[in-house]
Amino acid sequence: MKAPGPYVAGAAGPETGKPDTALPPWGETAVVGRPLPRIDGAERVSGSAVYTLDLQLPGMLHAAILRCPHAHARVKAVDTSRAEAMPGVRAVLTASTPGAAIPWQLTQKGALSTLFDPHCRHEGEEVAAVAADTPYQAYDALREISVEYDVLPFVIDPERALEPGAPAVHEGGNRQAPPDVYERGDLQAGFAAADAIVEQTYRTAVQVHTPMEVHGSVARWDGDRLTVWDTTQGVFGVRSQLAQVFELPLASVRVISHYMGGGFGSKFGLGKYGAIAALLARATGRPVKCVLTREDSFLCVGNRPSNVITVKAGVKRDGTLTAIEARLTGPVGAYPSGSTSAYLVADLYQCANVRTEETDIYINAGQARAFRAPGFPPCSWALEQTLDALAEKIGMDPVELRLKNIPTVSQLRKNRPYTSTGLAACLREGARAFGWSEARKRPRGKGRVRRGIGVAAGMWGYAGEPNATAIVKLFADGSANLNTGASDLGTGTKTVLAQVVAEELSIPLARIEVENADTGTTQYAPASGGSQTVLVNAPAVRAAAAAVKAELLAIAADELKKPAASLVLRNGAVEAVGDPEVHVPLPELKELGRREMLMAVGTRGPNPATKIALPFVAQFAEVEVNTATGEVRVVRFVAAHDSGRVMNRLTYDSQVIGGVTMGTGFALTEQRVLDRQTGKMVNANWHDYKLPTAIDAPADITVVPIDPRDTECNTTGAKGLGEPATIPTASAIANAVYDATGIRVADAPIDPMRLVALLAARDRGR
Ligand code: MOS
Repeated sequence: MKAPGPYVAGAAGPETGKPDTALPPWGETAVVGRPLPRIDGAERVSGSAVYTLDLQLPGMLHAAILRCPHAHARVKAVDTSRAEAMPGVRAVLTASTPGAAIPWQLTQKGALSTLFDPHCRHEGEEVAAVAADTPYQAYDALREISVEYDVLPFVIDPERALEPGAPAVHEGGNRQAPPDVYERGDLQAGFAAADAIVEQTYRTAVQVHTPMEVHGSVARWDGDRLTVWDTTQGVFGVRSQLAQVFELPLASVRVISHYMGGGFGSKFGLGKYGAIAALLARATGRPVKCVLTREDSFLCVGNRPSNVITVKAGVKRDGTLTAIEARLTGPVGAYPSGSTSAYLVADLYQCANVRTEETDIYINAGQARAFRAPGFPPCSWALEQTLDALAEKIGMDPVELRLKNIPTVSQLRKNRPYTSTGLAACLREGARAFGWSEARKRPRGKGRVRRGIGVAAGMWGYAGEPNATAIVKLFADGSANLNTGASDLGTGTKTVLAQVVAEELSIPLARIEVENADTGTTQYAPASGGSQTVLVNAPAVRAAAAAVKAELLAIAADELKKPAASLVLRNGAVEAVGDPEVHVPLPELKELGRREMLMAVGTRGPNPATKIALPFVAQFAEVEVNTATGEVRVVRFVAAHDSGRVMNRLTYDSQVIGGVTMGTGFALTEQRVLDRQTGKMVNANWHDYKLPTAIDAPADITVVPIDPRDTECNTTGAKGLGEPATIPTASAIANAVYDATGIRVADAPIDPMRLVALLAARDRGR
């Protein structure tokens, strides 16, 4: 089975990493865990935070990108002469511009494409770019570029894509690779041992990331040195790719991303917009800003691919799962995505006999990319509805059925034990908070509006890249600076990491400044994603802060003529245990004043050598279904999460509420719609692509953190939250819709049209 997501930016494998100082686990914490608002909240909401898109540099030009309007075409000729003569135009790039033939879509088999690939495999592929004095001039100039296309037959239906004679997205056909097969145990014996078997085919729709901040870059050359401000989840990954593309030493490329407005997986690595900005900046000798339009961002920066998942599963009367078989076909779009959708089938529940077979298919549409728990929500959609159907067949409470099959080892990873498995606690505590047993007894309603409840469990499958470094500086006045390469996607990373410094050094959060996500001035951190940001960076920060603390206490011990072991830091002062006389505020420590600054480097230690640390989740939904209109309202939602230690209760809840909202969209409204006649996306905008708004998201979301006090996962006890928050949401909603209506909606989203059609079909059958 492939990896759960393409997250690893550096070379470090999961069990490597520099040793840290092996700090003992925290006991009770004073600052960590508290519901503290974001330290940069005021900047973010007031507009004073400078995002990449806000950046204005002297002499800066604006780029616009010409995109292929066809689902499949070959560029025969491009005439840019009229565009070049337009007012304000400073440079035009096409495939034939010297230096523009940059290999793109790098795989082990080589590059599948180029920056301006004349073979356009989906609507929106880049054909040419313009830099002009203003964005308006740049877009005006695009209209003066004439392109001669050889329009090709296209394929957007994955089943058709595998038929003989189907248009080939790539040479060699539309099957991306031989099917990825995973097997354990004896499937036949497993099904033979089952008392009940269910089988069903589930389908999910393409979901588009649509982060609040669209993708873009600003590039500036100073001689042979390149600086790029980028909307990225990981500055170091972008730096590596820019260095490779422009054949520069890593040291000569600086990538900065101080503020970020969401990525959800669509902002890993160098975007074509970044390479185009750098090329245009080099050609013009001026800084260049290249920002996508909102519409382009629906077409060209990735999506969560659709899936067709057939699950067959068997269970004994006592609830023991005997066999699970899943066949998955994922149209990945025009290029590979590099992740799996089968993970949950093989690892969420204890089951001896499992087989998954996954086939990825090329079609003429925008490419699949990592998207918040890549592969997991579609897999959950199929698996968790299957569990629900099994529970009904054997007459067992669906919570009970799940509790019967809780694993304590990762069956996909040679049965390595988990450092902690909070899954059972998530189910029990979540059910209690939801009032599950009582709610199951309530009538579902007799009129048009029916109520129903549903549960779904989940886990995440990526444990994080351990390689991260941080620097903490303590100044003479007792204020501090934290230096980390991590991008803060808007989730509160800076705040949580500053809390770690505040915890160790016992200084107020307001006295800590954070410097982050700049390859020129900050330390290495892997990309923020894969739910690894906190659990990878916080231990490095803690190690740095603890080292500063040790040095500070040594200084104080000298000065106060007390053993260092008897001294503690409390409220910005040195105190002595058992001696209330001793209270020296940090600014009064003479040696600290003389040195001006104490500084320490912290690194993240390796992941546990023999165990695996992963987060778990159980979510519960109550829905109201209008059987006349097909409308579904999520009236109540409980999300119970074992993500280890709660680092900040406010950002924790925000993360869960965001994940549940995103999952609600996946369940009920979101889908990329391609026109069958043209292969073009017909809803590439925020009006027609139905994201849940504030009135669609569940108004009543209760977050139940489960903290198993994991002392083995890392030195902070945090296990990652961003992705688990959205994994089972849609499945819980689908199960609730079934409970309300008796209709198993196998195809997502459960939109009113689909649901009324299913209700009508059932009523006709009566
Ligand atoms: Mo992600 S898909 O971890 O941003």
